[in-house]
Amino acid sequence: MKKEASVTGISDMELVEKILNLKQQKNAVLLAHFYQVPEIQDIADYVGDSLGLAQKAAASNVDMIVFAGVHFMAETAKILSSDTKVILPDLEAGCSLAASCPKDKFSEFKAKYPEHIVISYINCTADIKTLSDLICTSGNAVQLVESFPKDKKIIFAPDKNLGGYINRITGRNMILWDGTCEVHDVLSTETVIQLKVENPDAKLIAHPECKAPVLELADYIGSTTAMLNFTGKDNSKKYIVATETGILHQMRKNSPEKEFLIVPTDETCSCNDCQYMKLNTLEKLYLCMENESPEILLSDEVISKAQVPIKKMLDMSKNLNLIK
Ligand code: 13P
Ligand code: SF4
Repeated sequence: MKKEASVTGISDMELVEKILNLKQQKNAVLLAHFYQVPEIQDIADYVGDSLGLAQKAAASNVDMIVFAGVHFMAETAKILSSDTKVILPDLEAGCSLAASCPKDKFSEFKAKYPEHIVISYINCTADIKTLSDLICTSGNAVQLVESFPKDKKIIFAPDKNLGGYINRITGRNMILWDGTCEVHDVLSTETVIQLKVENPDAKLIAHPECKAPVLELADYIGSTTAMLNFTGKDNSKKYIVATETGILHQMRKNSPEKEFLIVPTDETCSCNDCQYMKLNTLEKLYLCMENESPEILLSDEVISKAQVPIKKMLDMSKNLNLIK
């Protein structure tokens, strides 16, 4: 992805110093998702998947949460830590899954299935969370769905690929909202097969937001944290990675002796970047900490309603031993 032109003219090294100072001065915590650029991951207090980040936000005891991720993640942090100021370097850092599921359309959809409960993937807006009975992440979705009786009527939103994957491995028939992640959904079996043929010694690891035919070829399927843990423990020396490029940074740090090949979106690039995640830069991070803006603001009503299904997820995950 092309580097944006600097507006401050401050070097990356100076920006890092300024960010670290601001973090101390303002009693702030910097939370970053694995899909952030390496230079942001390297100065974060915590780098993780959506489940880990939600848990850190809930447990935070600071004056300000700086969220290096996308909008729905920062909203989740605000919902879980409503007395804390939450800032995001770029308010345009959205998500195709969250955008695919607007509140009015989802309310109409939900009304067609009055007997169903709603389990929503955390990659949705705060408004959708207020309409949900339970939130899940890719790190706990299978176990949370399995905690309900097999005949429980469930709507799953907004990711049809993750929902389809859960349906297949749990033998359920959840009704799926028709949303996808634009980063994972474009990965093709042709590209994966070509990489497998060229690298017969490599294992394919995939995020469950990928399409079913790609998942069928995978040796391991899991959330970003689960994939990272897998490559750390597994004895293979080479991996074909079907998710966003940012995760390679931690995989390489964790296992420097191993080789990681990302599944590219097309022939023009050997990467697979999320355009929203990559809107955050060191410079925007510095500016947002300096100005304490853009800030995530939600009404008390949305916070209190959306808290219920997210807290339920965190409690259930603790009970299922999914949170360490
Ligand atoms: P996890 O890191 O929770 O697996 O989520 C991946 C993702 O697409 C986040 O936007
Ligand atoms: Fe959304 Fe996909 Fe980007 Fe994650 S990687 S923020 S799911 S568009």
